[in-house]
Amino acid sequence: MSKPHVFVARLIPEEGLAMLRDVVALDVWEDELPPPRQVILEKVRTVDGIISLLTDKMDAEVMDANPRLRVISNYAVGFDNVDIPAATARGIPVGNTPGVLTDTTADLAFTLLMASARRIQESIDYVRAGKWKTWGPKLLTGQDIHGATLGIIGFGRIGQEMARRANGFRMRVLYYDLNRNVEAEKALSATLVDLDTLLRESDFVSVHTNLTDATRHLLDARAFAKMKRTAIVINTARGPIVDPNDLYDALKSGRIGGAALDVTEPEPIPLDSPLLTLPNCLIVPHIASASVATRAKMAQMAAANLIAGVRGQRLPTCVNPEVYARGIRQ
Ligand code: DGY
Repeated sequence: MSKPHVFVARLIPEEGLAMLRDVVALDVWEDELPPPRQVILEKVRTVDGIISLLTDKMDAEVMDANPRLRVISNYAVGFDNVDIPAATARGIPVGNTPGVLTDTTADLAFTLLMASARRIQESIDYVRAGKWKTWGPKLLTGQDIHGATLGIIGFGRIGQEMARRANGFRMRVLYYDLNRNVEAEKALSATLVDLDTLLRESDFVSVHTNLTDATRHLLDARAFAKMKRTAIVINTARGPIVDPNDLYDALKSGRIGGAALDVTEPEPIPLDSPLLTLPNCLIVPHIASASVATRAKMAQMAAANLIAGVRGQRLPTCVNPEVYARGIRQ
């Protein structure tokens, strides 16, 4: 029997590719940039499964390009690039990579919190520009992290790990989520509050929710108007949860104190974005899960989902398990 054919939309770590080589006929897109839409539409025509990235839009047109496409394995925990209802309606299971990147992502979120609170980017620029003349009582003074209030929007796996890190700094932890998690509240000394209270009382507001219609531009001018003037916004979730124009206005006018973004709208951030001109806005290029070990584990999970999918078996981590009751593509 011939091997199933699969398309891998970027050069993922070898740990995942090694799992695939014996089992499937591999076609890997090796460019740094994502495959253009037209390429995806062409490639998908001849494959049984695909490993997609968050940069690849997996919509009904892609799914309909090949009635034999049996699985979409997304190399990410987030899956807003995949039209899940369309996949389910067509009997296509969609996989993702939850769990393995939780700690690594929370590490980066806390790094951003600390770096923006203590003005690390400005300090580095100051030294490199030769401005460091002496010790100064008011030189580059920032905000204390210990004892401050952290507001976590979205108290899932990553939000909870953010709380755990905050506990180590003796921070007060508030969270806002549609679901109360009493066990995690107790374990992490966190308090559920409504969004307005969180915005009003937090020194740091960190976003850890999925991007949905309900969370798109959740942090906009109205939200910033409720925050402390010193508040710092951290986003390691998805760019469009924060309105970039409103964020610029809030930062520029001093309505809030700062922002630290791992994700932006759009990505990559255009070089002429006014956000890049602000000293109180720190931006890194969507690297929250980017540790060598975590990216390797993500590759293994994506490969495991893909292999199960092309074999018609249940995906180990499936975003739309309801697809199995409906019946999967054969
Ligand atoms: C994800 O997994 O959703 C991140 O954004 C990239 O690791």
